[in-house]
Amino acid sequence: MKKIFFRLISLVLCAALIFGGASSASAKEIKECDKAFRVSVAVNGDTATRRGFCWYSSANHKAKLTVSENGVTVKEYTVEGFEWEGNFCYKQVVDGLSAGRNYDYVIDLVPELAEPHETVNGSFSTDDADSKVDFIAYADIQAGNLGNFQKGADTVAAAFRTMPSAEFMLNMGDFTNDSTNEEWDFYAQAMDGINVTTTIAPVSGNHDGLGVWNWFNNLFCLDTSESVQTLNGVNYSFDYGNAHIAVLNTNDVLSISLSQLRWLKNDMNSTDKDWKIVCMHKTPYTLGKDGKWPDALYLQKSLTKVLDDCNVDLVLSGHDHQYLRTKPLTGNKLDDNGVTYVLCGTAGSKRYEVRSFLANNFLKPEFIGMLNIQKNGYGNYWNGTDWSSTRETNIGGCFNTVSIDGGTLTFNSYILQDDLTEQGVPAEDRPVTNTDSFTLTKEEGLNKITFTGDNTTSEAEFYLGVIPSFCALAAYTFSIWLPKFFIMLPNLIKVYVNEGTF
Ligand SMILES: [Fe+2]
Repeated sequence: MKKIFFRLISLVLCAALIFGGASSASAKEIKECDKAFRVSVAVNGDTATRRGFCWYSSANHKAKLTVSENGVTVKEYTVEGFEWEGNFCYKQVVDGLSAGRNYDYVIDLVPELAEPHETVNGSFSTDDADSKVDFIAYADIQAGNLGNFQKGADTVAAAFRTMPSAEFMLNMGDFTNDSTNEEWDFYAQAMDGINVTTTIAPVSGNHDGLGVWNWFNNLFCLDTSESVQTLNGVNYSFDYGNAHIAVLNTNDVLSISLSQLRWLKNDMNSTDKDWKIVCMHKTPYTLGKDGKWPDALYLQKSLTKVLDDCNVDLVLSGHDHQYLRTKPLTGNKLDDNGVTYVLCGTAGSKRYEVRSFLANNFLKPEFIGMLNIQKNGYGNYWNGTDWSSTRETNIGGCFNTVSIDGGTLTFNSYILQDDLTEQGVPAEDRPVTNTDSFTLTKEEGLNKITFTGDNTTSEAEFYLGVIPSFCALAAYTFSIWLPKFFIMLPNLIKVYVNEGTF
């Protein structure tokens, strides 16, 4: 009950938080030599010609970013850092690139230094603008120590081994647990080797930036031109192949503001790409522990209306640390032409079991296409009737691959078996099990652009919309969520007494 009370209070307090908050940082002495870390190359507008670079250093430098193709320099930038949370952050948009090319880059923090020193070398590819795209999606590494970040990195490395053609990776949020510098450094230590070889499309999770405004926005160089705000995350969109992908910020007014819903509707109506995909951290459909709260129900009731209206094909989400795919839905009902929702499992080692009290209250079991629980010691799955069956191959880190070729979208979900190093099996030799697979098909060329106006949100519009957004959330909370919660309560108590899960 303490948690329920906290949630209700947080509905009110979050309004105050939206208007306040600041970050603090302390300068470090300038050192002669340093090496860039937390390097990321993010989608930033046109994926055929642009990328957003971001990196950090522990001391202030003038950095040099050099982009080359086949050994020939094509872009060169001198980048000034700015002090951020005790380190220095550098951002640079690289534009004017060519479609379908492989580029290399070098980040050199001390270009004027005569002595040999360490640089960061990486590579990325631009979209070749045909109708094909392959990418990887994973969620919730949410680690707090280097060992668990390494487990997450092993899962992502397995994803690239499974799909070597992947052109970018979608991280569905909760990169770290507490968003401290120490954790982001562990993240960098485990993931920098992967991050410098590909492009990332990051999604802001509720753990990404705890208590520090703009943390997420300063970990990546994203196109924020249409973001409704950047304090606790960023919403943006991009095209890749013949897919239009919108990334939502579900930290916005507890889950999503009316401003962001309007942005999403306009954004999805402004593309003629064949495939419409929405990525977000929190999830409307889940059997995990977060499915019982008003923010999940609010997404289920308000967001899905926009998705239905805009003919979205696929929604990818995270947050609840289990894999759950719905059958296609429209208006919270089964519909073969509806939206498929995928809760992406967790690439990390924090995994949630089924909360059976949610069934028939916040999720109808008939909606489930596949469910995989990755818990240590057991791994439930959906056998078409219930989830009481278990299989050992479910125990491990989850990743997903999406392959689009013209009018066909193929989705696969995999689990990398947990650490077997004690048995002498290295990470790259651990078994990978294909735990779910589905295909969506459609006739190409049917999407028509119906919105061509200005899709930006001014600061004034956003703040003026905060109270109506809270009122909408409160209306759902008291009229729908609360009665459902009380109906569910006896079953919840029974499960809590028997299984200890809340
Ligand atoms: Fe989360």
